[in-house]
Amino acid sequence: MSENKKEKATKITAVKGMNDILPADAPLWELFENTVHSVLKSYGYQKIVTPIVEDTALFKRAIGAVTDIVEKEMYSFKDAMNDDELTLRPEGTAGVVRAVIEHNLVYDGPRRVWYAGPMFRHERPQRGRYRQFFQVGAEAVGFAGPDIDAELIMLCRRLWDDLGLEGIRLEINSIGDAAERQRHRADLITYFEANAELLDEEAKRRLHANPLRILDTKNPAMQDLVNNAPKLLDYLEGESVVHFEGLKRILDHNNIQYTVNPRLVRGLDYYNRSVFEWVTDKLGSQGTVCAGGRYDPLIESFGGKPTPAVGFAMGIERLVELMKEAGEPNDPSECDVYMVHQGEEARMQAFVLAERIRDAGLDVVLHCAAASGPGSFKSQMKKADGSGAAFAVILGDDEIAKRTAAVKSMRGAEGEQQASVPFDDVVDYLVNQIIGAHEHDHEHVHYHH
Ligand code: HAM
Repeated sequence: MSENKKEKATKITAVKGMNDILPADAPLWELFENTVHSVLKSYGYQKIVTPIVEDTALFKRAIGAVTDIVEKEMYSFKDAMNDDELTLRPEGTAGVVRAVIEHNLVYDGPRRVWYAGPMFRHERPQRGRYRQFFQVGAEAVGFAGPDIDAELIMLCRRLWDDLGLEGIRLEINSIGDAAERQRHRADLITYFEANAELLDEEAKRRLHANPLRILDTKNPAMQDLVNNAPKLLDYLEGESVVHFEGLKRILDHNNIQYTVNPRLVRGLDYYNRSVFEWVTDKLGSQGTVCAGGRYDPLIESFGGKPTPAVGFAMGIERLVELMKEAGEPNDPSECDVYMVHQGEEARMQAFVLAERIRDAGLDVVLHCAAASGPGSFKSQMKKADGSGAAFAVILGDDEIAKRTAAVKSMRGAEGEQQASVPFDDVVDYLVNQIIGAHEHDHEHVHYHH
């Protein structure tokens, strides 16, 4: 065997933990994306797109050196062409903050922005946890009060409602400001030191670098220890208390159910004051579908003007999985109309008609030849059926001679029906039939104006 052939025979598969999103799942992803876009728009959020690759230093400084993400999950590499230290973004907030500062986006006041795209973390893959995953995130930059925190949370609730998702519960906490955390931290270290024999290796390592993160431990043997540890909430004073009470007041007033989870500390270092997570029990151990909070000091720490900010990000894979669990119909139909044709003249006419039908706003799949050839009428009709089209438009020698098309309804309640429609009337005929059916049962998904 030549080298060339050997190479061809070796199967290349996707990178572990990085998924293909296949056409069969595309309708659910699109439904999610369309719904979240319209909800974000209804709250005045504007889209921002930042690069997938950033300077490694950006993430180290924003997320924090002593965090799981920075210590062990980043895809970092040196650009061999110019020695730049780069990283595939593990999350979106750092890039947005960089862009806000770089383009002075808050020069004329606060801004609401949102983004969506792939993120990369070298985690151990399991259900709901991947090495490439997709987030939609929102960041409200320049707002100081608890009203914007509440608004972001209410935006999420509206999204769950619009998607028909139930059983997503809200946990909130406040992790105060730096001075409050400092006092708590000192007591926490004293407490953990007094119980040093109960700490696991990771906790020992983090004891002096980042003791707050120990509260996040999943180690069952440490749960009692952690539950009885000094609570950061008890260290809040003045403005931090006022802010947290203000947030709860707005949530209560708007009937948003939540629990205060004093152990909710988040895995990234940039947070202060309000933090929150939306969690479901329906996805096994990876049940957090959305998480976020305030990061008031971050922009200043990057050399920007002091600018308070708050945001969240949601995991799209997890939400699409929930939509599946909720029985959201995954309509795989490709089009409204499938064009079937036989013979050279019919093929030419089919192109013309298909374009005119598309001009009217309908989705059309024109049968095209496969490797095995153009296919018989029968095999083309099978394709039409499989496409999920509401109508097949059929052109053969007879139709060309009469300048009509055979229009066959594929999904009608009265079974399949066929009409002979003059070329010039085909568009009107289809639009009437499809809009008529749509007004009747609201089932049609493709027609858009
Ligand atoms: P995060 O908690 O690291 O926060 O991620 C937010 C959400 O992304 C998670 O709740 C989860 O739904 C999803 N997610 C995270 N890692 C994975 C993974 N390996 N596989 C699948 N889904 C995952 C952030 O990223 C912050 N930037 C959120 C934020 C924005 N805070 C303020 N603004």
